[in-house]
Amino acid sequence: MYLNNIVEAIGNTPLVKLNKVTDGIKGTILAKVEYFNPGNSVKDRMALKMVEDAEKAGLLKPGGTIIEGTSGNTGMGLALAAIAKGYKCIFTMSDKQSKEKQDILRAVGAEVIVCPTNVAPDDPRSYYSVARKLNQEIPNSIYPNQYDNPSNSAAHYETTGPELWEQTEGKITHYAAGVGTGGTICGTAQYLKEQNPNLITVGLDTYGSVFKKYKETGIFDENEIYPYKTEGIGEDILPKNVNFDLIDLFIKVSDKDAALMTRRLAKEEGLFVGWSCGSAVYGALEYAKEHLKEDDTMVIVLPDHGTRYLGKIYNDDWMREQGWL
Ligand SMILES: Cc1ncc(COP(=O)(O)O)c(C=O)c1O
Repeated sequence: MYLNNIVEAIGNTPLVKLNKVTDGIKGTILAKVEYFNPGNSVKDRMALKMVEDAEKAGLLKPGGTIIEGTSGNTGMGLALAAIAKGYKCIFTMSDKQSKEKQDILRAVGAEVIVCPTNVAPDDPRSYYSVARKLNQEIPNSIYPNQYDNPSNSAAHYETTGPELWEQTEGKITHYAAGVGTGGTICGTAQYLKEQNPNLITVGLDTYGSVFKKYKETGIFDENEIYPYKTEGIGEDILPKNVNFDLIDLFIKVSDKDAALMTRRLAKEEGLFVGWSCGSAVYGALEYAKEHLKEDDTMVIVLPDHGTRYLGKIYNDDWMREQGWL
């Protein structure tokens, strides 16, 4: 028994009970450990789906180029799909992302263009704008645009949702995930809420992001936008993949609380995961402490692997520089 290529290894990741960081919490807390995907992140699922849907729509032809703005993980998934199917990749990335993420993408054959973080999304220097411009200039190229591409949510509706329903034997009552493009939380939530309309979804947001206030007031407040360090979640835009009707509430988690929880997950649970995993667990457990009952089962998505953050949250000197140790 073998797989025909590496992208066939995407999905069917394990669901692992959290035992230590959940001290004092009623109910069962399970982690969907997405670093078991071949690109080490949840993004493999939607990257493959965006490529396959573009092929089906006739937008991506042999020898084509995939151009995307990515915080790193989507790029990795796209690069693996491109290798399996014979495409080129060019990725734009903001300069706040870990250096490791750039190196990883170059290692799998992609061209990486680093753009400034602290410019408005519509500034021509932003990683969104640069990706769009390259797409216009390069013939036979596609710009999947993970923020607004419905294939992103669809990948999770088709895979992550059914996996969680089966793995929990329908016992899942709460689902928590960080929100970046919104694809993970909304695609999965749509499937799970169809199975159990009482299921509660908790979206994890960062300070410096617009989501929580928008959900609570309907106001896109530019004053909510300021630089933060956590990678992968929170936005200064409203991606089409965020369907606010499918997210029951948002909790904001600070960079520091997320970093410290991520380190606890590694030490106490043996889960060497990425920074946004700490955001997800910290925020979800805040909710669980107050609301979860004995019979409840909460699943928290852990999006990526710790290797991508060795120079940051897993580096004691860096942590001390931030004043977090
Ligand atoms: C590390 C990390 N965590 C969380 C997310 C959020 O997932 P989604 O974009 O599906 O909302 C991302 C997406 O970029 C990510 O890279």
